[in-house]
Amino acid sequence: MTFLLELENLHYGYPGQSKAALQGASLQIAGQQKIAVIGRNGSGKSTLFLHCNGILRPTQGKVYFVGQPLSYNRQALRELRQKVALIFQNPEDQLFSASVLQDLSFGPLNLGLNHAEVERRIQNVAELCEITELLARPTHALSGGEKTRVALAGILAMEPEIIVADELISSLDPWMRRQVFTIFQRLIKQGKTILLATHDLEVARNWADLVVVMDSGQVLAFDTPEKIFTNATVIEKLNLNEPWYIPFAS
Ligand SMILES: Nc1ncnc2c1ncn2[C@@H]1O[C@H](COP(=O)(O)OP(=O)(O)OP(=O)(O)O)[C@@H](O)[C@H]1O
Ligand SMILES: [Mg+2]
Repeated sequence: MTFLLELENLHYGYPGQSKAALQGASLQIAGQQKIAVIGRNGSGKSTLFLHCNGILRPTQGKVYFVGQPLSYNRQALRELRQKVALIFQNPEDQLFSASVLQDLSFGPLNLGLNHAEVERRIQNVAELCEITELLARPTHALSGGEKTRVALAGILAMEPEIIVADELISSLDPWMRRQVFTIFQRLIKQGKTILLATHDLEVARNWADLVVVMDSGQVLAFDTPEKIFTNATVIEKLNLNEPWYIPFAS
């Protein structure tokens, strides 16, 4: 079987860090699925995501997109990133143009699309992400949640196959969060795949088709939410038996 995205035994250590961030992480994604990626702070979720579109290159192991190992030359990476789009954990890392409109135009123009098509896509994604009123604004002068919405719109304008979203929902208000899940639902219907790193275990339990559990730079488990949340090793590693909320003293 050819997987849409396959990560094979990835190892990666950041310069100057004694402990490797990825220590043999493997994952096979068939496609058209909603996948939640959970795990403690520092378990390697963001590092894994940065390997999905070739921003980081593994020191050992391989990444395959539709059965082909990634090439790391500029042209190949540009093509890959149109299909595998990453939304960074910090949207500031994503937005680099002076205005929102320029930021949204950059990717589609780079694809060589004509101006009419670029405009059509931008209007479409701006409406979807509720940022039409922000188009003329400088990107640096947006709120955190607005930046996240602009980052999402920029990705959607590329019409990618896989959306790899790192903590996308954590900065959004409940209304926008709901809108994002509606957008995700529409994308799934179009045959797209979504990987969402999240600390919200309810999202992993209720929204995802499949859940990836990262632990110490490895994929500890990858299965349906029902299986993940009854898996003894996962329960132990993530302390799932402990209550979530410490009640305020009355
Ligand atoms: N730019 C960096 N330079 C050096 N070390 C890094 C860098 N980014 C991450 N690390 C280290 O790599 C490990 C994995 O980090 P990563 O950001 O992938 O974890 P994460 O699961 O995304 O965590 P979080 O839930 O906090 O977002 C951690 O030990 C972290 O300290
Ligand atoms: Mg992270």
